Amino acid sequence: MLGLNRTRDAALRARAEKVVPSGMWGHLHAAKLPGGYPQFFHRGEGGVLWDVDGNRYVDFMCSWGPNLLGHHHPEVEEAAERQRRDGDCMNGPAEVMVELAELVVDMVGHADWTQFQKNGTDATTTCVTLARAATSRRKILVAKGAYHGAVPWCSPSLLGVTAEDRAHLVYFTFNDVESLEAAAKMAGDDVAGILVSAFRHDLGFDQELPTAEFARAARRICDDKGAALIIDEVRAGFRLNAAGSWESLGVRPDLSAWSKAIANGYALAAVTGADWLRTAAAQVFVTGSFWAGAVAMAAAVATLKIVRRDDVPSRLAQCGLMLREGLETRSRQFGVSIRQSGPAQMPALLFDDDPDYRKGFVFCNSMLERGVYFHPKHNMFLCAAHTEADIAAALDAAEHAFSVVAAL
Ligand SMILES: Cc1ncc(COP(=O)(O)O)c(C=O)c1O
Repeated sequence: MLGLNRTRDAALRARAEKVVPSGMWGHLHAAKLPGGYPQFFHRGEGGVLWDVDGNRYVDFMCSWGPNLLGHHHPEVEEAAERQRRDGDCMNGPAEVMVELAELVVDMVGHADWTQFQKNGTDATTTCVTLARAATSRRKILVAKGAYHGAVPWCSPSLLGVTAEDRAHLVYFTFNDVESLEAAAKMAGDDVAGILVSAFRHDLGFDQELPTAEFARAARRICDDKGAALIIDEVRAGFRLNAAGSWESLGVRPDLSAWSKAIANGYALAAVTGADWLRTAAAQVFVTGSFWAGAVAMAAAVATLKIVRRDDVPSRLAQCGLMLREGLETRSRQFGVSIRQSGPAQMPALLFDDDPDYRKGFVFCNSMLERGVYFHPKHNMFLCAAHTEADIAAALDAAEHAFSVVAAL
């Protein structure tokens, strides 16, 4: 057991157990992490988080993505507060929706238009619906093991899901052109779209950037079949390249789904699309009571302007590289063999010879005890508020944590 005080967290868990099934649901359930992790948090500031017992952590999960600029970024908060004073949930959108749409269309390379939702799942589901509506076809090609949300057509759990919910998904392997071609062949002339993550970031595995060959094959198959290439940017969006994660590969999608970082922690998602999908986007009935919320849109305008002004992806990459190089050096120092994968802005750290993630769990618990919040299986996130001192603190903690793993 860790030396951290967990009194208030334990009391809250006991109360929650009585009124919330198992005390928490989904990916934020602390039971999915090693035993020492807190369930409840009190506050965040910049790249730092405090739990309900007052323990402080330099945070490398960044709310699992939404915290892009740092908690309570003054410019974002001021924009949100200004809008909150005027109104948030009204009988229609506020003026800020048009400003945000113009900004998104201006920033995102492939975007001729955009629509807004709340969660990433809303955006990926809308993309799938639009591709089907525009093509009058049914099949969506998806990568095995990829996460696109938590509703029956895409949830990683099969509990409560029927075979019919998945009937029109055809699976391929990420970065495997042959398997993508085979999936396209199997779907024949019923392909509505290919849905693919910006890069492979499956839980518990090494991350993989798309090869240019794979990206071009996905584009070619969609062009040949008159189908929509859909990139799921929910997790990577605005961290790798604000114009789109595949811009550097020279491949543009027809649709993209965005959320998480777009409004620096305010609930907002977006779909961006190419002109040929505009009519379908105008005709399908996709909506939600809170989808036009003006406060999150004001926060998004402020966030995206800062992303562009400060070239946030480059800043995150710089910080991420510092972390990556430091972890590499320190792991070697203790003869611990690690694998770091994916873009530096979203690092993943796994240990060799660690099939049950035991080394990862021990390492992360040790980090936690020294005030650094890492994840043992999931990709992590840098935010623009992380300082060199935060990275140095993480590396100091890692030095000790690697020594603990070496002694296992
Ligand atoms: C790649 C990807 N797509 C979709 C989603 C679903 O987003 P949300 O949880 O906001 O519904 C996530 C969430 O983690 C994600 O990482």
